[in-house]
Amino acid sequence: MAFSSPRIHPVATPRAASGLDLVQRPRRNRKSDWTRRLVREASLTVDDLIWPIFVMKGQATRTPIASMPGVERLTVDEAVRAAEYAARLKIPALALFPYIDPALRDAEGSEALNENNLVCQALRAIKAEVPEIGLITDVALDPFTSHGHDGLLEDGRILNDETVDILVRQSVVQAEAGADVIAPSDMMDGRVGAIRAGLDAAGFQDVQIMSYAAKYASAFYGPFRDAIGTAKTLSGDKRTYQMDPGNGLEALREAALDVEEGADMLMVKPGLPYLDIVWRLKEAFGLPTFAYQVSGEYAMIEGAIRNGWVDGDRIVPESLLAFKRAGADGILTYFAPRIAERLAAG
Ligand code: PBG
Repeated sequence: MAFSSPRIHPVATPRAASGLDLVQRPRRNRKSDWTRRLVREASLTVDDLIWPIFVMKGQATRTPIASMPGVERLTVDEAVRAAEYAARLKIPALALFPYIDPALRDAEGSEALNENNLVCQALRAIKAEVPEIGLITDVALDPFTSHGHDGLLEDGRILNDETVDILVRQSVVQAEAGADVIAPSDMMDGRVGAIRAGLDAAGFQDVQIMSYAAKYASAFYGPFRDAIGTAKTLSGDKRTYQMDPGNGLEALREAALDVEEGADMLMVKPGLPYLDIVWRLKEAFGLPTFAYQVSGEYAMIEGAIRNGWVDGDRIVPESLLAFKRAGADGILTYFAPRIAERLAAG
């Protein structure tokens, strides 16, 4: 991916009868499919895909998520089937998100530290049966807290350092259960460095950290909160820890800190509305940089496809190619299996 801009100044000399006397005609390179393919700068392959899946307790059950048509919560055995399918399609990695039984949620999110919680069960089951697929786990407390926040809540404030202590332990619990990549999505200050130190101290030097470096306080997460069951319980909003949508330089600062603290990979979230941030982070740090095409983006695209308002065969690959053009190395997308099937069909 090159980041320089063109220095071409086309010259046009008007001619009376036969049109413009142009030397530069960019349309030549677009005249047919073979040349368009030949000159295409960005491409999408199955190696670019990370598939986020939702896991719930129980057996042999899949339940639809109303605001994410086509996406289901899976019991652990079904998640194993999904992992097998993903591996067959050569999708490199899954990202796991749990729907935690409301009875197990409390103010401290203590279930996050249970080494037999749903995430750990899914990690062990998938690792045992599909060892070749990469497993990424989300580190944050929101699926586990009764108030739906990513951290500890005291008098309406989210406590930073106390939360980081818990996130470090949550990361080690996940690494012990088989997580390959820890993805902190909580946006507490200092968590990447603390998690790195905690993983290393526990002997997990090779577990990578994909930091949600630039995560914005976004309405695009709405359907996800339905999926993990926090939409109704969330008190207030997440604006004291997630970023303000108006800020770009702040994303560079957040990412710089994460890089210093030991992040192996960066992520931007949401995706399409924040492609400028993807580009800026990739240009500034050159680290593997990912984008999350989040639940609300999925819902908008899939809703329009299902209504026949847009062409799904074209709009999904186009939306993913846009991430690649913006410099992303890969995309977390709920469309992953569908697009992998199409890529495999050629
Ligand atoms: C939780 C988390 C969220 C998402 C990923 N991890 C929601 C939030 O911050 O409220 C959103 C993913 C999506 O919308 O698809 N920390």
